[in-house]
Amino acid sequence: MRTEQPKMIVLSEYRLPDYLIEETHLTFELHESYALVHARLVMQRNPGLDDTLPPLRLDGQQLELVDLALDGQQLSAVEYTLTANSLELQPQRAAFELTSTVRIEPQNNTALEGLYKSSGMFCTQCEAEGFRKITYYLDRPDVMSRFTTTIHAEKHSYPVLLSNGNPVASGEEENGRHWVTWEDPFKKPAYLFAIVAGDLWCVEDTFTTMSGREVALRMYVEPENLDKCQHGMDSLKKSMRWDEEKYGREYDLDIFMIVAVNDFNMGAMENKGLNIFNSSCVLAKAETATDAAHQRIESIVAHEYFHNWSGNRVTCRDWFQLSLKEGFTVFRDSQFSADMNSAVVKRIEDVAYLRTHQFAEDAGPMAHPVRPEAYMEISNFYTLTIYEKGAEVVRMLHTLLGEELFRKGSDLYFERHDGQAVTCDDFIAALETVSGSDLTQFKRWYSQAGTPRLAITDSYDAASQTYQLTVKQSCPDTPGQSNKQPFVIPLSMALLNAQGAAMPLQLANESAALTGERVLAVTEAEQTFTFIHVAEQPLPSLLRGFSAPVIMDYDYSRDALVFLLQHDTDGFNRWEAGQQLALQVIEEVVAQIYETDEPMLDTRLAEVFTALLAQDDLDPAMLAEFLALPSTGYIIEQYEHADPLAIHLAREYVSNQLAFALKAPMLERYQALRKVSLETAYVAQAEDFARRRLQNMLLAYLMRTEDLEVMDACLDQFGVADNMTERLAALACLVNSPFVDEAQKALESFAERFADDPLVMDQWFSVQAASLLPGGLERVQHLLHHPDFSIKNPNKVRAVVGAFSTQSTPNFHALDGSGYAFLADKVIELDRLNPQMAARMLSPLTRWQRFDLHQQELMQAQLKRIKNSGELSADLFEVLDKSLPV
Ligand code: TRP
Ligand code: ZN
Repeated sequence: MRTEQPKMIVLSEYRLPDYLIEETHLTFELHESYALVHARLVMQRNPGLDDTLPPLRLDGQQLELVDLALDGQQLSAVEYTLTANSLELQPQRAAFELTSTVRIEPQNNTALEGLYKSSGMFCTQCEAEGFRKITYYLDRPDVMSRFTTTIHAEKHSYPVLLSNGNPVASGEEENGRHWVTWEDPFKKPAYLFAIVAGDLWCVEDTFTTMSGREVALRMYVEPENLDKCQHGMDSLKKSMRWDEEKYGREYDLDIFMIVAVNDFNMGAMENKGLNIFNSSCVLAKAETATDAAHQRIESIVAHEYFHNWSGNRVTCRDWFQLSLKEGFTVFRDSQFSADMNSAVVKRIEDVAYLRTHQFAEDAGPMAHPVRPEAYMEISNFYTLTIYEKGAEVVRMLHTLLGEELFRKGSDLYFERHDGQAVTCDDFIAALETVSGSDLTQFKRWYSQAGTPRLAITDSYDAASQTYQLTVKQSCPDTPGQSNKQPFVIPLSMALLNAQGAAMPLQLANESAALTGERVLAVTEAEQTFTFIHVAEQPLPSLLRGFSAPVIMDYDYSRDALVFLLQHDTDGFNRWEAGQQLALQVIEEVVAQIYETDEPMLDTRLAEVFTALLAQDDLDPAMLAEFLALPSTGYIIEQYEHADPLAIHLAREYVSNQLAFALKAPMLERYQALRKVSLETAYVAQAEDFARRRLQNMLLAYLMRTEDLEVMDACLDQFGVADNMTERLAALACLVNSPFVDEAQKALESFAERFADDPLVMDQWFSVQAASLLPGGLERVQHLLHHPDFSIKNPNKVRAVVGAFSTQSTPNFHALDGSGYAFLADKVIELDRLNPQMAARMLSPLTRWQRFDLHQQELMQAQLKRIKNSGELSADLFEVLDKSLPV
């Protein structure tokens, strides 16, 4: 907890570390009521600096110093200075050894940062600044050290003792204790350090690397989860192969370990050789985890594995460079997922997520550049902007350079900086070297926050057969930044003729035409591209594949959108045309909904959906994407000031109308798909994901008709499905339906069946907390009192508090402010226990500016109430400070 106002950390004040730590020797003595950490640090004055000996300031928080010695000489209390965050002393020589012993209390650590206990095991989370809660250290990523770690613990409860690298020695002690020593041959920053101690069982496999080395792969889990490891293990092996083939990156230790823990603030952590996962992000089997969970696991396992190069071998100089590893690694894992499944579907999913969540962040009070310039609490900067927008920035570089040069650039980056802690500029410099291009202007994507807008207009002159595209770019002001300079925006485009075929493309200054698609580099505030020999009035297909993270305005007629949805040769843009069409239709209903219960609906949406459903050769995965209306969150983002209740009602109204209009073909298709699902065993692969997705989407539409035959089908799917994807989708339909008794019965039987599986119970909690039916607040209050709920478990908090505030729109945004007050109460409660979670959970309230005045006032009132609720963590303080108007 904070004692004084947290300080701003500023990028421009970066200085090289005064001292380096060559070797780090740690010994842990783990006990039930405390742990002792002995550290021996082999240190030296940074040889890159002058030969003075400035004071040594080590980071440390919530540590009880038991013992401190410099070169073997015990230091007395006058020879060092302790503060709440540091230990300062005066070295006498340029090279020295510092030894310390601290006492900590992992069993009381509810912040889940540093060393803590989760379901009876000890584990650690050090990124970003958790290591300072384990021992006094230079806890910054540009201090890289070789680690040796010995863990002592009671043998019966903690038979497995793990750390980074390779096990080199072990032994038994009296009193039923034992110990293991691990040695990590690679230098690493402290944030990649990890230990685990617990009664864990292990699933083993091996992987032979491209140079023929055999690597032992081990997944450590609680014994009841042994049958949920196969998918994660398969994902790991696929990731290892893919990184070799696609990036030439080989694994570098003899062991790679994954540990699943139940209490974890984020998804997973890439600790060197010892990845630690939130159990929800690695454990799966058909009966308990949905297809979406299987896909998420595949991508997170890949993400953490890929960090071994993009993050660990080459790490970040400071936390302002966080996107150097995260943006690049998200880009890499999205390429991987695209290769493993459907590339178009993956792109659609990523863009839908980015536009709903990252664009909202970029438009709100927490907006920051991909490389921020200042922060109070770094944990608050593990954001959609750093991760998802950062990945888009890397993707644009990939688009601009092309596959081959990008690979050369990445090779050079890894080779040049292996073993170093570097910056985003170093990454760009490697790409500049291999391509010979100047990326100075491009780098504005790293320094300027906010989502750029592209306003595109066009004109066709039949007489001269010329077609002009005029592109204007702008970027709104964001906190602390105005007057943005133009970005480099790769604009992928094609011109379609009346048959929907891509026409040849020749710019006025070019001697020959290109076929199909091309990427225009937009670099000016306003720019016109003139195409010649354009035989007929074209329909432009713009920003294909979402080639840049921008908001594009081009005034398509609805007929043009219908045409693009059916004929565009770019799968992504087909989907996008459908989204824009649906958005226009829904917005039209939003405008009417205050006046009438029966708004007029443009019939073109139902017509084109009918046509798509009738098209047998359409990929079911694409059909499912086409039929999915834009999310409520995305629609809200389209308004300067949104009325969330009207938007919710309008979206429901349009969905219901579509369901009635398309009932017959939807039912027929649903039954056919359901039959296949019944007849085939569950397989976690793209084709089956697609079938189940479409099947479940059709079921959700059909349930809107409140037809009893459909309800029976839903109950049947719920009752007999052999997999969680079908079962949970049916449950969600029931929970959101007026069939209250059936829903209640289904919830009870589900809870009974899966009572012993916390990951399944999370889904049970979430489906109820997210319900759109009235009475949401009472429902979540009730869930909070369920014996399986615990505010100390982040997955449970996300399942109840998170699902309610991000998905249950009409309840969270209730006109009396009760939803907001509920979230505020939970945030205040959480902040005492887990500041990172408190700050994260608060984010829906920080978006108050997006809403109507009434909602704005209610939301601000709750922000103020939190601010005045007592002592706040630095995490929560920063978010509140930025969100509240002065
Ligand atoms: N580096 C981790 C990842 O990208 C992120 C992470 C895991 C994290 N746990 C954390 C960040 C705790 C901050 C705090 O997967
Ligand atoms: Zn990451």
